[in-house]
Amino acid sequence: MKNTVKTLAYAGSLGLLVACSGQGTGAPTASAPAAPAAASQAAVEAAPAASAASADIVTAGFMPNGAVRKPSNYREWVYVGSPLTPNGLNGGAAPFPEFHNVYVEPSAFEHYERTGQWAEGTQIAKELVLVRSNNNAEDGSSAEVSGVGYQQGEFQGLELSVKDSGRFSEMPGGWAYFSFGHQPEPYNASAEAFPAEACNACHEASADTDFVFSQFYPVIRAAH
Ligand code: HEC
Repeated sequence: MKNTVKTLAYAGSLGLLVACSGQGTGAPTASAPAAPAAASQAAVEAAPAASAASADIVTAGFMPNGAVRKPSNYREWVYVGSPLTPNGLNGGAAPFPEFHNVYVEPSAFEHYERTGQWAEGTQIAKELVLVRSNNNAEDGSSAEVSGVGYQQGEFQGLELSVKDSGRFSEMPGGWAYFSFGHQPEPYNASAEAFPAEACNACHEASADTDFVFSQFYPVIRAAH
């Protein structure tokens, strides 16, 4: 029953997901924090709120205007799983027709292992990777030496979530969500937070542990 409710919540928000993925690059939106017109006031007005992260958590880098910098070494973080929603199983047009490779920053992972909580300052990266194109059948699968199935092809986008209820006090759960582009590399060097209504509601309603979809990540399920 729980699963049915979650599936419906996910399907209900898909339109929103498609709409916000179209923004693609984290470009400023009407409801994102606006840059002040007067340059002399920029530093004062755009100064970010103090982080709530404790000293033992490796935090994201932020620009003076509050945009987050793309983490450089996320592929060396703790790899926790790869949900897949291919076009072939979504009527030919999945909102995210890729593998979603998810990585947790190691100090945040270690804190979760110990406590079962996502620490203030936690960073989680989700890299999108296209289904490999080879002898693909109509459902997108390929026949390979290991059998018929789905393999990973090219990189196709990068997203990041950051929990910091000091810096993002207005965001539900203190989580902020970013995209460095839904595109092949190179990704954008920085990204502004999406408005809460674009991302937080689905995560709040359907994810198992504090906005994080741990039900899809075996490494997180095994960690605590
Ligand atoms: C319709 C529901 C939905 C919406 C809306 C949504 N997500 Fe997610 N998100 C998911 C699901 C499901 C996962 C689990 C991994 C997967 O299947 O991709 C996820 C996982 C993630 C992760 C990996 C960490 C985690 O929390 O599990 C990041 C980062 C992420 N999403 C970013 C975003 C961003 C950025 C937005 C807004 C533009 C957004 N999401 C909006 C459903 C959603």
